[in-house]
This record gives sequence, C-alpha cells and structure tokens, in this order.
Amino acid sequence: MAEKSKILIIGGTGYIGKFVVEASAKSGHPTFALFRESTIADPVKGKIVEGFKNSGVTILTGDLYDHESLVKAIKQVDVVISTVGSFQLADQDKIIAAIKESGNIKRFFPSEFGNDVDRTRAVEPAKSTFDIKVKIRRAIEAEGIPYTYVSSNYFAGYSLPSFAQPGFATSPPRDKVIILGDGNPKAVFNHEQDIGTYTIKAVDDPRTLNKILYIKPPKNTYSFNELVSLWEKKIGKTLEKEYVSEEQLLKQIEESPIPVNIILAINHSIFVKGDQTYFEIEPSFGVEASELYPDVEYTTVEKYLDQFV
Ligand SMILES: NC(=O)c1ccc[n+]([C@@H]2O[C@H](COP(=O)([O-])OP(=O)(O)OC[C@H]3O[C@@H](n4cnc5c(N)ncnc54)[C@H](OP(=O)(O)O)[C@@H]3O)[C@@H](O)[C@H]2O)c1
Repeated sequence: MAEKSKILIIGGTGYIGKFVVEASAKSGHPTFALFRESTIADPVKGKIVEGFKNSGVTILTGDLYDHESLVKAIKQVDVVISTVGSFQLADQDKIIAAIKESGNIKRFFPSEFGNDVDRTRAVEPAKSTFDIKVKIRRAIEAEGIPYTYVSSNYFAGYSLPSFAQPGFATSPPRDKVIILGDGNPKAVFNHEQDIGTYTIKAVDDPRTLNKILYIKPPKNTYSFNELVSLWEKKIGKTLEKEYVSEEQLLKQIEESPIPVNIILAINHSIFVKGDQTYFEIEPSFGVEASELYPDVEYTTVEKYLDQFV
C-alpha cells in the first residue's frame, strides 16, 4: 500500500481546524500543525496544542506572515490544509507563494468549508467574503498547484442548535420559529467531525484531485420546512411559524450592523436562494463525499437533533 501523505494543517486551533487535525492524526497520516509562538504560550490554546502533541501531531512554530517559517514547514510535508479564519482568508496568497517556492506539495486544500463560492448567488456583504475565496481559488489554479476545495456546507454546530434563528440560541425553538423565504429550498447540515473525516479521506484520493469535494450526504439535506417538521415530531409540539419574505430579509440585511448583516446574507443565500443544492454536481468539477466514502457513518441531522430533545 502506498505510504500516507504527510499533512500540514495551518489554523489547527480554529473552530473547524481542530476537527481536521484530529481526523488527520486519527487516520494515521503523519500530521504536522503550524502555530504561532503566542498561540502555544496561550493558556487555553496551548492546551489544545498539547492535546494534539499527545495524539502524535508534530507541532511546528511559524506564522502566516513569516514566509521563511511557512516554507520550512511546507518542505516537510506533502499536503497543506488551511483552516484559517475569515480575517486571514485573503492572506492565503502567502501560503500559495510558500508552496510555489517549496515545490514539493502534492495537494493544497485552501480554507473553504462552506458554500461552493463559484456557484453562490449571495448578496452583499456575504458576497464579498465569498469573493475572497474565489480569488484564492483562481490564484491556486493560475499557479498550477494541485488542489481540492472542500464545500462542507453548513456546520451543524453553527446552524442546528440555533436553528439559524436571530440571537445565537443554544437549542432549537420550542414555541415560535422564524422561516426565511418560503422554507422550501434545501440546505445541508454537517457534523464538524465528519467534515474533518471526509477532508482527510480526500487527501490521497485521485478522484478528488483538482475537484470540489461536496459534503452533501442525503440524510443531512433538508428544506427549512422539513427541518422544522422533524423537530416538531421530536418534541411532540407544533411551532408557531413566522415567514420572512425575501424582500423583508433583504431590507433587514441592509439595515443590520456587522456581523448580523453577514450572517443574514449567508442565510439568505442558503435558505432563500438554495445555494447549497440548486445545481447538479458535474463530474467535470466535483464529487460528493458520502458517495465516495460510503464507509463513513456520518452523524445524521435526525440523530444530531436528539441531544436537544
Ligand atoms: N460552513 C460553515 O457553517 C462555516 C462557519 C464558520 C466558518 N466557516 C469557514 O471555515 C473556515 C475556517 O473558519 P473558522 O471559523 O474555523 O476559523 P477560526 O476559528 O477563526 O480559526 C482561525 C485559525 O487561524 C489561525 N491563525 C490566525 N492568524 C494566523 C497566523 N498569522 N498564522 C497562523 N495561523 C493563524 C488561528 O490561530 P489562533 O488560534 O492562534 O488565533 C486559528 O487556528 C473559513 O474558511 C470559514 O469561512 C464555515
């Protein structure tokens, strides 16, 4: 059997990064993670780093903004996965430059982990944040760097506890639910651990080379109306429903401050436009994770919601 690629993760203390590092270490890929000195010294984040070390991850020090440290780290591995957050997305051109200089990278996974940014019809201000990812995609392709873009759709932890309701609730509503648009377009909700697992499975898979890996398991694909019905069945209660028309929502987006306007615009793209599901995945540009890896027993939305009943 071919040796497993060595993987470097940049952004491993982040929300999704933690799951990617854990999945990589668990899979038996030699796993490297790059952290700033200040992160390692931080009492909270330092513990996360310590945990990674204990599970066999090689800890490297460096910084996205320190070219030499990036090149040094990248030279030790075969594959680079970036899970940097929204403030660093544009600066991934620094990773691209370091990969170019190193010349040894078989695959780069830029920080994506959301909607397919080439097929989104988001309005501002979400559009601008998605456009940054588009620009990074084009830069990778222009440099001829082999890639996989992971379109993992909605993080379950970001969408299901709150049911995408205003005010960051920690469990789904029990009296009244706000539904954006008519509630019919389908969206996809994935457990973060599964996102980590599928991402790592794709690393050495030729079928995901220069492709978008969509994480779109059938049992995690629901319209908002279907999601509400499922929840109602679980709690044995019918919720009061308030539908917000697209026109009303666009007005709310315009009038809300940051970051509420960004969240609303993302939810407009997902729940009103149906951007996660309106197109077919063509073999020329994409593959679907649960089809490629039927052995992964992913957490279904149905099961995920049980913790809140
Ligand atoms: N689909 C969804 O529902 C959804 C939701 C949210 C985000 N996302 C996407 O997921 C991706 C990751 O976002 P996230 O929220 O998980 O990120 P995050 O929690 O903000 O984590 C950012 C990571 O980048 C690291 N970092 C920051 N500056 C750095 C530097 N100068 N050098 C090296 N590392 C640096 C941070 O390290 P420190 O710990 O040291 O700060 C942290 O590990 C993004 O593409 C985002 O758009 C998707």
